[in-house]
Amino acid sequence: MPVDINSPPLCLGIVGTGAMGRGIAQIAAQAGIRVLMFDALHGAASGARETVIGTLARLAEKGKIPAEALAAASARLEVVPRLEGLASAQVIVEAIVENLDVKKALFQQLEDIIGADCILATNTSSLSVTSIAAACKRPERVAGLHFFNPVPLMKIVEVVDGLLTAPRVSAALLALGQRMGHTAVQTRDTPGFIVNHAGRGFVTEALRILGEGIADFREVDRIMREAAGFRMGPFELMDLTGLDVSQPVMESIYHQYYEEPRYRPSAIAAQRLAGGVLGRKTGRGFYSYSGGVQEPAAVAAVPDARAASVWVSQTHPEWADVLREIAAAAGIEVETDYAPSSQALCIVTPLGADATTACVTQGLDPARSVAIDCLLGLGSGGPARRTLMTTPLTSAATRDAAHALFAADGSAVSVIRDSAGFVAQRILACIVNIGCDIAQQRIASPADIDRAVTLGLGYPKGPLAFGDALGAMNVLAILEAMQSFYGDPRYRPSPWLKRRALLGISLLTDDT
Ligand code: NAI
Repeated sequence: MPVDINSPPLCLGIVGTGAMGRGIAQIAAQAGIRVLMFDALHGAASGARETVIGTLARLAEKGKIPAEALAAASARLEVVPRLEGLASAQVIVEAIVENLDVKKALFQQLEDIIGADCILATNTSSLSVTSIAAACKRPERVAGLHFFNPVPLMKIVEVVDGLLTAPRVSAALLALGQRMGHTAVQTRDTPGFIVNHAGRGFVTEALRILGEGIADFREVDRIMREAAGFRMGPFELMDLTGLDVSQPVMESIYHQYYEEPRYRPSAIAAQRLAGGVLGRKTGRGFYSYSGGVQEPAAVAAVPDARAASVWVSQTHPEWADVLREIAAAAGIEVETDYAPSSQALCIVTPLGADATTACVTQGLDPARSVAIDCLLGLGSGGPARRTLMTTPLTSAATRDAAHALFAADGSAVSVIRDSAGFVAQRILACIVNIGCDIAQQRIASPADIDRAVTLGLGYPKGPLAFGDALGAMNVLAILEAMQSFYGDPRYRPSPWLKRRALLGISLLTDDT
């Protein structure tokens, strides 16, 4: 009999009742599922049961769940002293130590205990579900059920299809995830599945920007938070996760994809890991922490400088109009001739190109020029932060006059050194491109990719919706310019992006 996930008497076995196992036990019991908990460490499962009941009691005290739900959920949690106690389970989720051989041995043992239709799921985040299943007599009943920490709050679960997983098994696990109140997304068994794969762009590109000396880590974080709308900058995120966790994930996914340049880790993070500068947990990462609180950073003052007049490049006429309005509102003369006068502050608006290339191709004096990032908008309702980029020859007076001009209406301004693609353009283009390639490889559906990333990584938009919002053609232009400038296949556009940009259709469009 295939497992009926939605029938009330469903029985779920959990092996390994650590951080993840107890979270899964909690949401299962709250969803009306009978839960059998087993842990190899004596007393661990009953300790976990008490912890879960304590959590539910606090939720009841705060009025988040009714008092009767507390009693009912608690009654559904049972500890079994031996693995054999899981014989009646219809689904078993394994959340033990992240070790392939130990997980394989457990699944082999379980197969001798459980019924013919019982589904075996692994919560692994980095091991191959297919390899775990290969140890089993019936690999078709094995799949991944990958939750995120903390399980009750991270409302997303990846259902991972191994090479031989039967469709009825993933269908049942998708239904189980939904029944437990989570958004369940389906993914093929590939390194990082969806969420940890899609997360490669944000941090690795930020580390490249730092490594190239374009901006310091604080400035990169400010831009990604205040201009691009992320809750946390990439360096704040690395500090929170800890480099002891994030650097091995970067290495592992890079090598599992046979040194795919899009996922290339950075020597900067490797060195900091070696030096024990891990992040919040060691009191010092990119930022310093005192009592868990990030040290305050001084913000550069707006320079007391003023341009005599401003000339704006017409490469993007709609952006030029907004820039001229900003200059006029700041009371600065706006030049409208084809070429700038010899006194003008020249503003260029590259997409993917650097300020130097933009100046040279337009015949402008690099000493009197700055570039501004217009991709995320500039006008009212636009970003709280604007990014300016200098050429190696931009004079200090020009830089300061541009800074003062774009800060005159109260906007914050970041000034960075020359870069193909500013900060936000290049990080966002990498995120969109990797999301597109996950779709291209048919690892998951476009809608599931975006759902998994918004819930699993907390990005303001999924990578495909982000690409649509920025304009697929704009993202393609950024990547092509970066690829041409650096000669690095890291920036080669995914075929998914290229075709949809050329056709003028949404990046969420699947093939018919
Ligand atoms: P944990 O160390 O908190 O708990 C593991 C539990 O498994 C311990 O109670 C241990 O006694 C028990 N255990 C170990 N070997 C066992 C065996 N052979 N049989 C029965 N019990 C055994 O680990 P955590 O963090 O809960 O992780 C569990 C799994 O979930 C790992 O595969 C991990 O990669 C995965 N995961 C962890 C996430 C996290 O953020 N902690 C996120 C997503 C997945």
